[in-house]
Amino acid sequence: MTSNIKNICCIGAGFVGGPTMTVMADRCPDLIFNVVDISEERISSWNQNDLSKLPIFEPGLKELIEKNRNKNLFFSTKLKNAIENADLIFISVNTPTKLIGLGAGKSSDLKWVEASAREVAKFSRGHTIVVEKSTLPVRTAEVIKKILYSSLEETSEKDVSFSVLSNPEFLAEGTAINDLENPDRILIGGDDKEAMLSLSRIYKKWVPDHKILLTNIWSSELAKLASNAFLAQRISSINSISTICEVTGADIREVGMAIGRDSRIGSKFLESGPGFGGSCFKKDILNLAYLAEYFGLEDIARYWEGVVNFNIWHQRRISKIIVEKLFGTISQKRIVILGFAFKANTNDTRESAAIKICKDLIEEGADLIIHDPKVTQNQIEKELKIKSLFNNSEETDLSPKNKLGQWRFSETYDVFDNAHAAVILTEWEDYKNIDWLVESKKMVRPAWIFDSRSIVNPQEVTNAGLNLWRLGDGSSKNKKNDF
Ligand code: UDX
Ligand code: UDX
Repeated sequence: MTSNIKNICCIGAGFVGGPTMTVMADRCPDLIFNVVDISEERISSWNQNDLSKLPIFEPGLKELIEKNRNKNLFFSTKLKNAIENADLIFISVNTPTKLIGLGAGKSSDLKWVEASAREVAKFSRGHTIVVEKSTLPVRTAEVIKKILYSSLEETSEKDVSFSVLSNPEFLAEGTAINDLENPDRILIGGDDKEAMLSLSRIYKKWVPDHKILLTNIWSSELAKLASNAFLAQRISSINSISTICEVTGADIREVGMAIGRDSRIGSKFLESGPGFGGSCFKKDILNLAYLAEYFGLEDIARYWEGVVNFNIWHQRRISKIIVEKLFGTISQKRIVILGFAFKANTNDTRESAAIKICKDLIEEGADLIIHDPKVTQNQIEKELKIKSLFNNSEETDLSPKNKLGQWRFSETYDVFDNAHAAVILTEWEDYKNIDWLVESKKMVRPAWIFDSRSIVNPQEVTNAGLNLWRLGDGSSKNKKNDF
């Protein structure tokens, strides 16, 4: 029974709030979901008739939006209204790393969470369950509680009360809908058992009982940070081994397979790549490190920071290899970048390895042509903070007018003319089907394919007369008999 909860509000219609509420609305047709956001632009994209223009690309999302939007799922900017009517409010706003002030570069900026809590305090009526959905530093629930309860002291309304819960979301982008429909676990942290049971009754509509974990609020907050830190650490570990493979003649795919067969280790998250991206891993590890530092645990802080520092080093390593293979200079050389999203099946580019790698290559004077099936030119421009030299419509040659590097975006696969190299940075399915025999004829010889995601068929690339560098592939070492 969810009889005490009828109306749900979610503040923040982003990569987490949007898909999460969509799946919940689909699974709970008897409840009303109001997703609110301060951004008019974002809300109008969620309300688009043309479902290909939703603000987020996520496989399976548009079908669920079509089915549930304006039935029991509503997107609007009417925050006051949504809060007033809500029995339960999810806070799902973004929590970027602080840029200035105390904890700058490490701790999360909670200004949006604080602002949301203040709005909740101002407009809510009766008893409201307030749920942290955003990933937050440990003990943020206390901040939210303080804001809510201090507002109670100011108000004459006698019947207003709150319960604060932590319910972190574990979805990964690109597989969000499946992750939400079939979660490994649902974590609910709190000290108000009644509120915790009310929230768990909602999840029980589609999640088996044994997957719903109830903990204290701090354990729940810390478990989310620690899960992300463990996952990121695994990627840094496998990427560090890929470097050793390249110099010894081993192959990271074989090593990864052998490691993953140990049932204690498991096979997931062992794919070496250009370095982890996404909005969470780096931010959450830095939060964990900041927390440790705050409590005087310097060694713990350094331990976790190592994972992030290695990731940055690894991304740089890839751009250096590209320059080295192209005879030590890429000035005025055309290089095709295949993929800008931080992983396949998403249009999200936050912390994508492509940002650092493209910037490095542009700094070295390269002419980049960047392709991604879901990311827009505008988005790339925002991330690189360098204007695209050519509009998409201009089919001009790229011969540079000066010695600085430059980039342009291409919506089509017509990108290989006169290219010295192609660099695969995102594992989009389409890139597996490139006909290298055809494309190689358009490229400048000797031409290189740099595959940081292990998605090309090495035989097809080399048969097309192209040089191939694959991350973690030491086989060329074997051929040269370097030992
Ligand atoms: C998620 C998590 O919730 C966050 O904890 C994590 O750290 C980053 O990823 P996400 O949904 O991906 O956040 O963020 P984003 O896509 O930026 O969406 C946040 C939304 O909140 C934006 O649409 C923004 O306009 C909105 N917002 C922000 C509000 O509605 N009100 C505010 O006061 C601030
Ligand atoms: C992550 C967590 O997986 C999710 O549980 C949490 O809620 C949010 O943060 P997300 O960042 O969306 O999800 O994607 P994820 O699949 O974890 O990938 C993160 C980065 O790691 C990507 O850049 C991806 O390419 C990289 N990665 C992942 C690897 O390089 N190798 C792997 O084996 C797995």
